[in-house]
Amino acid sequence: MANPLVVRAEDLVKTFGKRTALNHLDLAVKQGQLYGLAGPNGAGKTTLIRTLCGLIRPDHGAAYLLGWQMPSTRVRSQLGYMPQDFAVYDDLSVLQNLEFFGELYGLRRAEVHRRADELLDLVQLSDRRRDRVGSFSGGMRRRVSLAISLLHKPRLVFLDEPTAGVDPKLRRNFWDYFNALADGGVTMVVTTHLVEEALRCHMVGFLMDGSLLTEGTPEGILAQTDAANLDDAFIRLQERGEEDRT
Ligand SMILES: Nc1ncnc2c1ncn2[C@@H]1O[C@H](COP(=O)(O)OP(=O)(O)OP(=O)(O)O)[C@@H](O)[C@H]1O
Ligand SMILES: [Mg+2]
Repeated sequence: MANPLVVRAEDLVKTFGKRTALNHLDLAVKQGQLYGLAGPNGAGKTTLIRTLCGLIRPDHGAAYLLGWQMPSTRVRSQLGYMPQDFAVYDDLSVLQNLEFFGELYGLRRAEVHRRADELLDLVQLSDRRRDRVGSFSGGMRRRVSLAISLLHKPRLVFLDEPTAGVDPKLRRNFWDYFNALADGGVTMVVTTHLVEEALRCHMVGFLMDGSLLTEGTPEGILAQTDAANLDDAFIRLQERGEEDRT
């Protein structure tokens, strides 16, 4: 089957009190696609990812990952998720964090150490592997969290603002790696507020008020909005969304 749908959301609705975080949202992501989720603060990006991963139950609609309706334990070993508020254990060293999560994923110790070498090289924390994560800066903790989410070589990865607070040089390395993973057939859904990151995605979805306002290749979104650059395009889309609201 060529490019089967790896992520499918149908008519997702999620409200928190009076707030609608997801408003009849449909989404489809193909295998090997690097899909960027953009949109203003509070647009619903994190809620969407958490719902897709089965961590939030929608009020209405359904989410399917790798063909399984979520929540499902069947996809756990193939799914990587890096939360926006990165989950790391402060009391443990970098390596101990990786060993702990490796055990959860059912990896052998030798495999964890092999992967640790590769991923700590990526996030440039090889020389800090024995340091306690609690002593790290925010950006460094985020880097540990990214390494954890990729440890078990997942086929499908959700990264919620993986580069927030990460310096530009390393950010570029991360995106080179994301592109390489996607080239290797890994499906990636990544939220971002940065235009240069959106430009590296195969597809970009622009969320606002819990709806997918538009979706397309970065070039397609430029054409749709008749904007000179993607920054202007996103601002135009947000303004259109605000007009529709009133
Ligand atoms: N646990 C919660 N309880 C109450 N309201 C929530 C909860 N989680 C999200 N919301 C609300 O749902 C809406 C969408 O929030 P969400 O965190 O999904 O946005 P986001 O697009 O990820 O924003 P950001 O770019 O700031 O990360 C917001 O109005 C937010 O206040
Ligand atoms: Mg968010």
